Amino acid sequence: MSVEQQTTPVRVRSIGTHLDRVDGVAKVTGRAPYAVEHGEADGVVDPLHLWLVQSTVAKGVVVDVDTESARDHPGVIAVLDHASAPRLAESDDGELAILQEPTVHFRGQIVALVLAETSEAAREGAALVNVSYDVEPHEAELREDNASYRPDSVNPDMETDTEEGDVDAAIAAADIVVEQTYRTAYEHNNPLEPHATVAWWDEEDGREILSMFDSSQGVHGVAQTLAPMLGLEVDQVRVRAPYVGGGFGSKGEAHAHVMATALAARTVRGRPVKLAVTRQQMFALTGYRTATISHVRLGAGADGRLAAIEHRVQEQSSALKEYAEQTASPTRMMYAAPHRRTSHRLALLDVAVPSWMRAPGEMPGMFAHEVAMDELAVECGLDPIELRIRNEPELDPETKKPFNNRRLLDCFRRGAERFGWSSRPAHARATQDGDWWVGTGVASATYPAMRMPGNAARVRSLGAGRYAVAIGSVDIGTGARTVLTQIAADALGVEPGAIDLAIADTRLPPASVAGGSSGTSSWGSAVVAAAQRFRADHGEHPDPGVETTASAADDPQADELAFHSFGSVFAEARVHRWTGEIRVPRLLGVYSVGRVINPTTARSQFIGGLVMGLSAGLFEESYRDARFGHMVTQDLASYHVASHADVLDIDAEWLEESDEVFTPMGSRGIGEIGIVGTAAAVANATYHATGMRVRSIPITPDRFL
Ligand code: MOS
Repeated sequence: MSVEQQTTPVRVRSIGTHLDRVDGVAKVTGRAPYAVEHGEADGVVDPLHLWLVQSTVAKGVVVDVDTESARDHPGVIAVLDHASAPRLAESDDGELAILQEPTVHFRGQIVALVLAETSEAAREGAALVNVSYDVEPHEAELREDNASYRPDSVNPDMETDTEEGDVDAAIAAADIVVEQTYRTAYEHNNPLEPHATVAWWDEEDGREILSMFDSSQGVHGVAQTLAPMLGLEVDQVRVRAPYVGGGFGSKGEAHAHVMATALAARTVRGRPVKLAVTRQQMFALTGYRTATISHVRLGAGADGRLAAIEHRVQEQSSALKEYAEQTASPTRMMYAAPHRRTSHRLALLDVAVPSWMRAPGEMPGMFAHEVAMDELAVECGLDPIELRIRNEPELDPETKKPFNNRRLLDCFRRGAERFGWSSRPAHARATQDGDWWVGTGVASATYPAMRMPGNAARVRSLGAGRYAVAIGSVDIGTGARTVLTQIAADALGVEPGAIDLAIADTRLPPASVAGGSSGTSSWGSAVVAAAQRFRADHGEHPDPGVETTASAADDPQADELAFHSFGSVFAEARVHRWTGEIRVPRLLGVYSVGRVINPTTARSQFIGGLVMGLSAGLFEESYRDARFGHMVTQDLASYHVASHADVLDIDAEWLEESDEVFTPMGSRGIGEIGIVGTAAAVANATYHATGMRVRSIPITPDRFL
């Protein structure tokens, strides 16, 4: 059983050093299997293959599923539809309760499943299933005039609206007002490894067991979500995800395809069922970032000091299952102003269910807020960094608690020095290089520091100074396996090579999702708790076989301090005067994130976030055709993600610091902050280059023509 352990700061030796990825060789030599690649060695013997049949209408009722030709196709074993699929327990999770009723809620919804001996036969069988519908009118377009639904809370459980002081009066009395509308596009998470699940049912000690390999950011969460719907206890569902090729939030929760695989496997007990979701299917089934409309009003004195900040957000959710992006959440804590108001309203559309995508909330919200701040700087005739200096709050404007470690201005000072900010022309459209307008821009970045509850770790002595350390957390490619090895080594006072780390299995101690930039903080604190408890109980020379399981006690100061990370983003943009082509030759992020556990893997996280922010700023846009309710962009040709040719001189660095109030390692979390503010810095740089203000992303060449 797990005990709670108060932790003390870890004496660092491996932490902070460039340890190579412990799974690097396995990954680059093809010995690290992704979910769908698991074979006989892992118990996946003689699998069947599953293919999804998706709705071709946006709303309506399935009146007939003609399965005859599909069932006649060689290799096809079974076709399941809403009438023949196994029943699920009642659930209010409309996304996961698939094939329980004939209702169609969005285009691309799963309406039938085909099981076959090969993937090809399953796919061909799926093409032969003939579904007829009674079509009903649908609404699939987010507009200012239909986004009026007020949710009870926004992701994950934040206030929908906030209000302080008298915003309208403060705006009316302000010397300078910026009032603009900003828009961000639909975006789809496109991890390198598409979603995939392998599932099989068997018995263990007389109990039904559902075993899965799932490409997931959190195995315990998948088991906890699926088990009650399948009428099982949580420990009857075993989920493993030893290697995952990215997720960006889309694998943070189980989506419909996971349930589809579990249901299909239930009908063919004894044989595993494999489902590899295609890239095209991901655009309907595995979540996406909703488009957002931000109405921002800033009221300031002539000196740029803010009196009022208002950020009213309109965005969409699905009528089937509510998810509200917390777009205005960073506006609540970013800058000082006595009068402030934020709100979120939704259009509940007949569309696929949106979900998490790297820095949900902060990414679209800080695009709006940070472009608005740039506009205010221009209106006030102030350098944009000076404007931010003048609006530094003494306390967290949202909670009125002191910030634990707010070093936003240190990030700007360091970035300005390194980027050469002091030589920047004060006015826009001041620099031309041949046919290119050249400019620079900045934006702030922020992300909350979160430690999730419910994490535990186990330490067992293997003798001869070696230790087995276990926690059920998933490494989605971030380097979690490596940094947890370093944390365990330092907490036990041994070399990293003396640690055998086991992760990503629900049979290991519970771990929270690899999301919210909370993984290393949450799991690492549990590993330290277990190690310190182990040392206290068993000393420096433990007998082989002794073991301790512990979870980290909550930090008592979490109630007294506001924990956030901060950063500054600097961008240079070149805009071609005849074609509008946009290039970003330089991009730099400087971050305050507590102590960095592994500079190599951390740098990859920051750079990856910056690339993703650049990509959002210039390229990424999923286009939904409202007439039919489907995403037209369904592949990496039409949905362009920044490629090597788009990413030029890019770098990230961080302030040397340690946040031992937050975690015993001194770290705060780094996975998401790199994408925050980056699109705004790029947009602000294109304004400085051209004198033309673009208030929506992606910023395409036509905006400058
Ligand atoms: Mo991240 S969007 O919290 O997986």
